[in-house]
Amino acid sequence: MDYDSIFTECASLLHKENTILHNLKALCDYLHKAIPHYDWFGFYIAKKDKHELVLGPYCGESTDHVSIPFGKGICGQAAETQKTFLVSDVSKEENYLACSIKVKSEIVVPIFTPNSKQEKKIIGEIDIDSHTINAFTKDDETFLQKLSILVAENIASIQQ
Ligand code: SME
Repeated sequence: MDYDSIFTECASLLHKENTILHNLKALCDYLHKAIPHYDWFGFYIAKKDKHELVLGPYCGESTDHVSIPFGKGICGQAAETQKTFLVSDVSKEENYLACSIKVKSEIVVPIFTPNSKQEKKIIGEIDIDSHTINAFTKDDETFLQKLSILVAENIASIQQ
């Protein structure tokens, strides 16, 4: 997988439209198509001071998990600990919110306010489900962490 050229394409997609939701949806549609093991690609947005995530743009099957409290499921744990969660086999994860029986592995990467000199603040997450067990590698993690910074910068530039 050529993550460098995929990353370049993501950067150019983010500069095409000028609304955050439009940009995020464009990324979901592109990455869902470009990377075969990304069977569900979406964003959760952290509600300010509410310790809750709400479903943002996504591409893939619809999900019941439209709002997730911090601490619940893989998304909630990533939000609470402010860490990337890479789950190779979701059947072995006790604190997990199932979306579909087809999902076998998942990765969740937090998105933080960019260049924050103060306390690191989570503004959202990238969430990806795969129908393949053990689908995500260190390369996915590195790519998605870079992407999360790009997304945070794009959100900040639109909000200014
Ligand atoms: N599986 C997630 C819930 C969100 S869906 O994957 C879209 C979790 O355990 O937090």
